[in-house]
Amino acid sequence: MTFQPLFPHLTGHNLAVGWAPFDALQGESDPDEWQDIANAAPPRQKEFIAGRQLVRALSESLSLPRHALRRAEDRSPVWPADRAGSLSHCKTLCAAAVGRHPHYRGVGIDIETIGRVDSKLWPTLFTDSEINYFTSVEPALRDAETTVFFSAKEAFYKCQYPMTQQWVGFQDVELQRVDSATLSIKPAKRDAQLWHQPPIHSFQVDAAHIVTLMLIPA
Ligand SMILES: CC(C)(COP(=O)(O)OP(=O)(O)OC[C@H]1O[C@@H](n2cnc3c(N)ncnc32)[C@H](O)[C@@H]1OP(=O)(O)O)[C@@H](O)C(=O)NCCC(=O)NCCS
Repeated sequence: MTFQPLFPHLTGHNLAVGWAPFDALQGESDPDEWQDIANAAPPRQKEFIAGRQLVRALSESLSLPRHALRRAEDRSPVWPADRAGSLSHCKTLCAAAVGRHPHYRGVGIDIETIGRVDSKLWPTLFTDSEINYFTSVEPALRDAETTVFFSAKEAFYKCQYPMTQQWVGFQDVELQRVDSATLSIKPAKRDAQLWHQPPIHSFQVDAAHIVTLMLIPA
């Protein structure tokens, strides 16, 4: 298998989630997909190919047929009608999730390197209540926790986008820790919608990386 499975308690016949290093995910790219990346710089081509290879492997694990994953004008992925999914890259690793239609209305995944959310960025990325929470977290765990919160907002954004087609700012939503593996999200100023209801799952892949995942069931 070219990927390491993630969130085994959530996956099965209708959902596959995994991660892998870029170097394990290279190979011949789909000619249609290549059209979306042909003019990009080589590092971007490498991460793009890795993401598509991972999506392909996850789709195959669900016995879904091979299908190009093209990129829309707004840069979001155009999933074929038989599946919904999401993908993410950090500097060397890629994570993705693929759900079988019609079981998921939204899927959002994000992978991040721990320690890049400098405290100078907190007022931009986090609400007052989130920042208050970080100050209560043990200093040794704070980098990982701020990375999880940043990642969870990115996963949420990707998950809700196919339904809403809407931009969401970092101050527009607020996260709360539910337990060591789960967060909840709510809008900061508006009424909650369907896409605020499911939990966001977090998992530390290794000493330096975390992954977050949000799923909106059908
Ligand atoms: C779109 C965005 C979330 C991507 O995240 P990122 O950390 O820059 O990059 P990642 O590697 O994690 O994810 C990139 C992948 O996201 C996917 N993506 C891009 N735009 C997307 C969108 N609107 N909806 C869903 N998925 C999207 C693509 O598959 C892309 O990979 P690809 O270009 O190789 O296909 C980010 O660039 C962005 O615009 N964020 C601002 C909005 C936001 O996050 N708000 C948070 C508050 S809720």
